Amino acid sequence: MTSPSIRKHTDNAPVVVPSRLDIIQAITGVLLILFLWAHVFLVSSVIISPALMNGIADFFERTYMAQIGGPLVLLLIVYHFLIAARKMPFRASEFMTFWRNARSLRHKDTWLWVVQVVTAIVILVMASIHIYVVLSTLPITAEQSASRVQGGWLPFFLILLPMAELHLGIGFYRLGVKYGYITRASRHVWQRNEYVLTGIFILIGLLTLVRFMLLTN
Ligand code: HEM
Repeated sequence: MTSPSIRKHTDNAPVVVPSRLDIIQAITGVLLILFLWAHVFLVSSVIISPALMNGIADFFERTYMAQIGGPLVLLLIVYHFLIAARKMPFRASEFMTFWRNARSLRHKDTWLWVVQVVTAIVILVMASIHIYVVLSTLPITAEQSASRVQGGWLPFFLILLPMAELHLGIGFYRLGVKYGYITRASRHVWQRNEYVLTGIFILIGLLTLVRFMLLTN
C-alpha cells in the first residue's frame, strides 16, 4: 500500500500529496459522478414524455452505447470500489478501532467517510443487480420501466436513489477538500452546497419514480 507524504501548506495546514492510486480513485469517481448526473437527467425525461425517454433509449441502443457503455460503467464501479477498499476497515478489530476514533473525534468529515463506506457497499451490490436487470431485458422503454417499478421494484429504487446521491454528494465534497479547492474557510458553504445538490438530485429521482408509478400502458 502506498502511503501519502505530508508537506506544509502556506497557511500551516498539512497538505496530503495524493498517491497514484488516490489519483485513479479521484478520476474514476469523477467519471461516475458525471455518469450519474447524466443518468438522472436521461431517465427523468419520462416526466416530460414517455416518447422522449423511448427516443433517448433507442439512440443509446442503436449506437450500442447502452450495450457497451452499461457493462463498462459496472466495471468502473467495481474498479473504483476496489481502489477505495484498500482504506476501508473490513476486519472487526480495524472497524472497532475506527469506530472508537470516529466517536471520540466528533469530527463531521470523519462521519461523512463512514457514510461513504456504507453507501459504497450498498451501491456495489444494488447497482450490479440494477444494471444486469436493465441490460438483460433490452430494449429500454418507459412502459417496461414503469411496469418494473409498479411490479415491486419501487422499494429497491427508494433505497438505491438516496444511497447513490449521498455517496455522490459526499464524494464531490471530499474531492474538493482533498485537492484544496475547498478550504477551511469555505468548508461550511460547500457542505451546505453539497446538501442542496444531493436534495435536488433526490427530488428529480423521486419525481421520476412517481411518473413511473402513474404511467399506464
Ligand atoms: C449503464 C448502466 C445503467 C443503465 C442502462 C440504467 C438504466 C436505468 C433505467 C432504464 C431506469 C428506469 C427503471 C428501470 O427500468 O428499472 C433506471 C432507474 C434508476 N437507476 Fe439506473 N441505469 C444504470 C446505472 C445506474 C447506476 C450505476 C445507478 C446508481 C448507482 C442507477 C440508479 C438508478 C435509480 C436510483 C433509478 C430510479 C429512477 C431515479 O430515481 O432516477 N442506475 N436506470
